Amino acid sequence: MVDKAYIQQNLSNTLQETNFPQLGTLYRGKVRDNYTDNEKNMRFIIATDRLSAFDRVITTIPFKGELLNQTSTFWFKKTKNLVPNHLIDIPDPNVAIVHQCDTFPIEMVIRNYVTGSAWRAYQRGERVSGIRFPEGLKKNQKLPEPVITPSTKAEKGLHDEPISKEDILEKRLVTKEVYEILEEYTYKLFEFGQLYSAKNNLILVDCKYEFGTTKDDEIVVIDEIHTQDSSRFWIKDTYQERFAAGEEPDILDKEFFRGWLMEQGYMGDGPMPEIVDEVRIELAERYIQSYEILTNELFTPDKNRKVLERIRKNLKLK
Ligand SMILES: Nc1ncnc2c1ncn2[C@@H]1O[C@H](COP(=O)(O)OP(=O)(O)OP(=O)(O)O)[C@@H](O)[C@H]1O
Ligand SMILES: [Mg+2]
Repeated sequence: MVDKAYIQQNLSNTLQETNFPQLGTLYRGKVRDNYTDNEKNMRFIIATDRLSAFDRVITTIPFKGELLNQTSTFWFKKTKNLVPNHLIDIPDPNVAIVHQCDTFPIEMVIRNYVTGSAWRAYQRGERVSGIRFPEGLKKNQKLPEPVITPSTKAEKGLHDEPISKEDILEKRLVTKEVYEILEEYTYKLFEFGQLYSAKNNLILVDCKYEFGTTKDDEIVVIDEIHTQDSSRFWIKDTYQERFAAGEEPDILDKEFFRGWLMEQGYMGDGPMPEIVDEVRIELAERYIQSYEILTNELFTPDKNRKVLERIRKNLKLK
């Protein structure tokens, strides 16, 4: 485990943002800087150390970008024989080079428990993506089997909306043949993730997958998979007891920072409280710990902590 002193030393060695026009057209998400090179059909996904909450970027956390990129890469490598993915190379711990794909305009969401937005819809008596869940479910209850609840892929800043398979086909967002492949891939990835997570005392509760086609017309899973930004993880060995007692499951982190902000009286509006060093260190520790639980591997950060310079060197940029 990386020790506190090392994290402290690296509080100022974080990656806030990149500006590499040589790599292609920049699209900056809250956390990742994406560059598209349409001539080479390549995309550079640079995971920065930005921390976001309430839809805003707040501060940076040492090692966060590296951990995010390593997590997604870990799963892509483990599942590549099961479902083809967009990954080409990892030239730097924070960077993934992937096939630039034509993306399908839907997100495949798969759930094994009724929680989050599906629970809220269920409580209102609504279907979720056209699917009626069984009667009498309690919050966070396991479903009889995993259910795919697709959603539209909204433009930046807008929220994705659930959509039924029937509507997807009727609106020709994807063809039936393609949809069936996406379903198959979604079940396969989710099953693998669930089995692997269970060995590490985790429940993979639900996930979101995105798919696209490469220039050779291969359907591949894109973006990121089984990261804390795209999936929900609960702690397995306390789930039953807590569920039976009507308590919320133990979550594999993520909510810590939101919780801390709310303790400071911040609910998303007005000036943000100052994020002191102790909080940034604690967050780094938690991100590292989550990575290690999730992958069952030790995190060994790259020794070169001048991250921006290092990326420039590894990508052979001027
Ligand atoms: N291989 C790929 N080819 C084409 N587009 C891709 C590929 N992989 C990921 N993308 C797209 O890149 C975008 C990544 O955006 P990113 O996650 O950085 O920000 P965001 O999703 O807009 O916002 P947020 O920061 O809230 O996640 C997504 O729209 C995703 O669909
Ligand atoms: Mg995203």
